[in-house]
Amino acid sequence: MPFARDVKPISLQEGGTPLVPSSGIGKGLGLQELYIKNEGQNPTGSFKDRGMTVAVTKASQRGARTLVCASTGNTSASLAAYAARGGLEAVVIVPSGKVAAGKLVQATVHGARILRVKGNFDEALGLVLEVVRENPALYLMNSINPYRIEGQKTLAYEVFEQLGGRVPDYVVLPVGNAGNISAIWKGFLELKSWRISDRLPRMVGVQAAEAAPIAEAYEKKRDHVKPWGDARTVASAIRIGKPASWKKALRAIRDSGGLSMTVTDREILQAVDELASKEGLFVEAASATPVAALKHLRRTLGPRATIVCVATGNGLKDQESVKVDLERTPELSGGPDLLKALRDSTPG
Ligand SMILES: Cc1ncc(COP(=O)(O)O)c(C=O)c1O
Repeated sequence: MPFARDVKPISLQEGGTPLVPSSGIGKGLGLQELYIKNEGQNPTGSFKDRGMTVAVTKASQRGARTLVCASTGNTSASLAAYAARGGLEAVVIVPSGKVAAGKLVQATVHGARILRVKGNFDEALGLVLEVVRENPALYLMNSINPYRIEGQKTLAYEVFEQLGGRVPDYVVLPVGNAGNISAIWKGFLELKSWRISDRLPRMVGVQAAEAAPIAEAYEKKRDHVKPWGDARTVASAIRIGKPASWKKALRAIRDSGGLSMTVTDREILQAVDELASKEGLFVEAASATPVAALKHLRRTLGPRATIVCVATGNGLKDQESVKVDLERTPELSGGPDLLKALRDSTPG
C-alpha cells in the first residue's frame, strides 16, 4: 500500500473474505469449479472497505478533516465507519429515495452527515465534484480517488492466494461506476508484471438491463460510453447511467478478452433467491448479477473453467428489494398449535 512503513493504517481489519466453493448453483449449471468471493463479510458489509481504509488513511496523513462522497449507499456506510475510526468528519450526498435504508442507517449511526439531493446518483456525483473543486477543504472519497483503487485491487491478490497460487479463468462482477472492475484488473496485472503469476483472468462486467451504458458500448463495439439519462433497476447499488471510470472498465474487459453483458431485474432477484436458498449466502441485488449472468454464459465459459463471482455486498442492508412478507408466517397461540404446524410441515 502507498504508505511509509511507520504509518499506522486506519483499519477495521477489512479483506480476508471467504472464497466459498459453490455447492448448489455450480452443479445445477454444469460448472465444476465455481466460487463466490463473499465481500459482504467485510466490516461494513461490502467490498468498499478494502479501498476506504487506504483512502481514509491517506486523507488523514494529508491533514484532511472533512471527507465527502456521493453514493448509491455502500460507499456512504463505509466512509462513515472509517471516518469515525480515524476521528474525521464524513459528509455523504445520496440521491433522495434511491438508497437502501439499511445503508443510510449505517452511515447515520457512524455519525456521517447525510445530505439528500433530488435526482439520481450521476447528478449527486456531479454536484460533489463541483463543490470539491471549489472548496479545497473537502476531500473527495469516490472511487475516482486513486487510493480507493489501490485498496480494492487486493481482492485479486487474495483470490490468487486462496486458489493456491492460481489465477481463475473468469472473474465475474457487477459494474456500476466501474471502479471495482478497474481495481481488480489492476491487481491481476500487477501479479503478472511481478512474475508472481503467469496469466490473467478474463473480466466479465455485468450490468442491469436498464442501467447498462458499459454493456451497450461493449456490444456495439464503441470505444466510448454514452451516458444513460434514466438508469433504472432494482439493484440500487449499480443504478448508474454515467460511470466515472468507464474508460478503465472498457480497457479491463477488452484487454482481458472478457465481455460485458446485462441481466434483467427478474433474473437478478431470482439469483438473490438462489444464492440464499442453495448456497446459504444472502447478498444484495447488485451482488447477485454475476450469478444471474452465469445462466447465459455457461456455454461460453465451459464446464471446467475456474470462475469467481464477486458477491460485492451483504443482503442484510438491502431488505427492501427482496420484499419478504413476514405477515404471512403463521403466528401460533400455544403448544398444540405448534405440534400441529410441525406435523403439517414435516415431509412424509
Ligand atoms: C454492492 C455493490 N456492488 C457493486 C457496485 C459497483 O461497483 P463499482 O461502482 O465500482 O462498479 C457497488 C457500488 O456502489 C456496490 O455497492
